[in-house]
Amino acid sequence: MQKLINKAEKTHILEREEISFLLRDSSVNDELFNAADRIREENVGREVHLRALIEFSNVCKQHCKYCGLRAENKNLDRYNIDEETIFKFAEKAAGYGYKTVVLQSGESNFYSEKQLVSLIKKIKSLNMAVTLSIGEKTFDEYKAYKSAGADRYLLRIETTDKNLYSKLHPDMNFENRINCLYNLKDLGYEVGTGCLVGLPEQTFESLADDILFFKKLDADMVGIGPFIPNPDTPLKDEKAGSFILALKVMALTRLLLPDANIPATTAMETLDPNGRILALQSGANVVMPNATEGEYRKKYELYPGKICINDTPAKCSMCINAKILSIGREVSKDYGKSKHFIKRIK
Ligand code: 5AD
Ligand code: FES
Repeated sequence: MQKLINKAEKTHILEREEISFLLRDSSVNDELFNAADRIREENVGREVHLRALIEFSNVCKQHCKYCGLRAENKNLDRYNIDEETIFKFAEKAAGYGYKTVVLQSGESNFYSEKQLVSLIKKIKSLNMAVTLSIGEKTFDEYKAYKSAGADRYLLRIETTDKNLYSKLHPDMNFENRINCLYNLKDLGYEVGTGCLVGLPEQTFESLADDILFFKKLDADMVGIGPFIPNPDTPLKDEKAGSFILALKVMALTRLLLPDANIPATTAMETLDPNGRILALQSGANVVMPNATEGEYRKKYELYPGKICINDTPAKCSMCINAKILSIGREVSKDYGKSKHFIKRIK
């Protein structure tokens, strides 16, 4: 077991069976987390990059079986924040020192391409990096947003198990999602993907495939979170994913993609009150504090128990800064472009 970790640390290569072996066994978890922490330090340093997350709309036309935003969920009060207000949230985020705004929403056509282009341009005038996380769009839409100045795009593959993917995503198409990711790469975005850990029927082998997929895609960023059952979804009676398993998938991702940006995710902290700190000490180098104001936070309910729903952006900013300093790390002052991306486009 330890030999496999040494191999991963040295070569950044593991076979499918080796990954699933490490995921299944729990005798060397701490060694795995420590190795991922060393590789993080060596390759992306001790700085933590903060991304201000603005959840600007919870309207969604999709039907992902795990997600509280799914179109069928009638227990959710839906909102679309107007562009001026979104811009104000971004301005405030800039005021807290954030250098990146992540614009996230459900998948919908409420905002026209023109509206989003104008919003991106306005936010770019604040000298911030812009990350989009708005789902599957056409090549031309991705192109328009890139031309408007968007820098990065997050689109998790969620699971690479095709059979499971189609069960969990009625009316969605696995190939199209992969296609979107390659389109984003071709257009010059810094591309982020990721997966859910602990989905019903998901196996260790399938998680190993997810990690190998991140490597094959040559992802610049990878976000990994445990599945948390939402009572307003068809998966309400399923078991939640395990925090430790999600942490292991993340640590192995760090070992195999040494210079990628990897967030300590909100879902991890939902399952463990110290989740983001543990993640930062097991391979992660990014945190995405919530910068959505007011009532909207509560309504962006992907899963229950989401942290910070009664807090303000000011509180989250202070809290996360303090946590990072408390473990002897630094908050980055620059844009925090993925080192992997910088090498990839050279
Ligand atoms: N539990 C954990 N994560 C979830 N997401 C959606 N629903 C859930 C859930 N029930 C994640 C998806 C999506 C991201 C924005 O939130 O992975 O990509
Ligand atoms: Fe919209 Fe899941 S239902 S992203």
